[in-house]
Amino acid sequence: MNRRIAGEISGRRYEVVIGDLLDDLIREHLEKYGQKRMFISAGLKGTYRERLASLTGRDNLVEIRDGENQKSFDAYSSVVSSLLSAGLPRNVLLSYAGGGTLGDLIGFVSSTYKRGTPFMAIPTTLLAQVDSSIGGKNGVNLSGVKNAIGTFHLPEKVFCDTSFLNDLVISDGLSEMVKYGVVGDATIIDNLMELRGDSILSQNELLTSLVEKCVSMKMDVVSKDIHDTKGVRSVLNFGHTVGHAIESVSGNSISHGRAIAAGMIIESRMSELAEICEDPVSPVLSNVFWMIGIDVPRPDSTWGQEIMSYVRNDKKVEGGMVKLPVPLRIGRMGSLDVDLESFGKLASRAMEDLWR
Ligand SMILES: NC(=O)c1ccc[n+]([C@@H]2O[C@H](COP(=O)([O-])OP(=O)(O)OC[C@H]3O[C@@H](n4cnc5c(N)ncnc54)[C@H](O)[C@@H]3O)[C@@H](O)[C@H]2O)c1
Repeated sequence: MNRRIAGEISGRRYEVVIGDLLDDLIREHLEKYGQKRMFISAGLKGTYRERLASLTGRDNLVEIRDGENQKSFDAYSSVVSSLLSAGLPRNVLLSYAGGGTLGDLIGFVSSTYKRGTPFMAIPTTLLAQVDSSIGGKNGVNLSGVKNAIGTFHLPEKVFCDTSFLNDLVISDGLSEMVKYGVVGDATIIDNLMELRGDSILSQNELLTSLVEKCVSMKMDVVSKDIHDTKGVRSVLNFGHTVGHAIESVSGNSISHGRAIAAGMIIESRMSELAEICEDPVSPVLSNVFWMIGIDVPRPDSTWGQEIMSYVRNDKKVEGGMVKLPVPLRIGRMGSLDVDLESFGKLASRAMEDLWR
């Protein structure tokens, strides 16, 4: 059964639909628009591509290379130029079918082309379904800085269609699901543990209900802090401070999901060592990642230094103090407020403890 979650932010209504094979609903929305362009990920081959072509019309479909390197100002400029050459007006519906990188790029184009067009999303990786397609953030990387330019621009509709998911695009999203479990809904962790090693793709009803739980939680958090200025959205950064540093030290050879998994374990252990947690979370995390088949990377000697250089430049650091969202127990978050030196010591001790 399809699930619909409606939201309203600053007077703008939008809706996320979650289900399996949402073609009729997608077509219905597309048919409301005379002019449209759908950008689809080069990773969507065969029947995925054919389905999307029949939904939007072959002439309106543009295949585009994606991935982190394509989330660039050059790619942005080339997409905008193609829209201008086609003479498309500002009420053209721009949409994408792909992962978070394509969503961030096309969201940014949609928000800026002729000062903003209608926008629709078909996220096709688990990470994009539970995270990046929700919340209105978009952007491209510039001069080696991730998301250096971007805006907030909400799609009118997001179609989280689980039939687009496959083994290649699941694992990073699973880590984010675990994050939602720790941050606010412990049943997500229980549900993942019940899989007992089976692939989540083999249980569509469970997959749909987990995507729904994560989307609801993100929409709720975002509705209270759309522009990420009140500190409410920061809980969703759990695991990402240390995780992003790990991703960066590996030159992106460690995937986002694996890096975030390690980040969540290390940050939880830091809250245990600082004695602010009520119930240790790091052992639960190690267990759940093992159960769902996420191969958490082991730290090497360069991590401590890299984490510190990343944290020094992080926007969460103010006046030499770090405000790190950490779990007090599963389902309840707190904040670890420490100076940079103590942060470094806690991170090093956490890594030693965890991977002795
Ligand atoms: N805007 C936000 O709020 C937000 C939040 C979290 C992450 N992000 C961004 O999301 C990006 C990561 O997104 P991602 O993990 O989806 O990676 P991605 O977009 O790079 O996609 C991963 C790979 O999967 C391929 N692909 C996509 N769908 C497929 C499918 N169904 N079958 C086979 N291959 C498929 C793509 O071609 C790509 O090679 C990062 O740039 C990150 O910064 C944004």
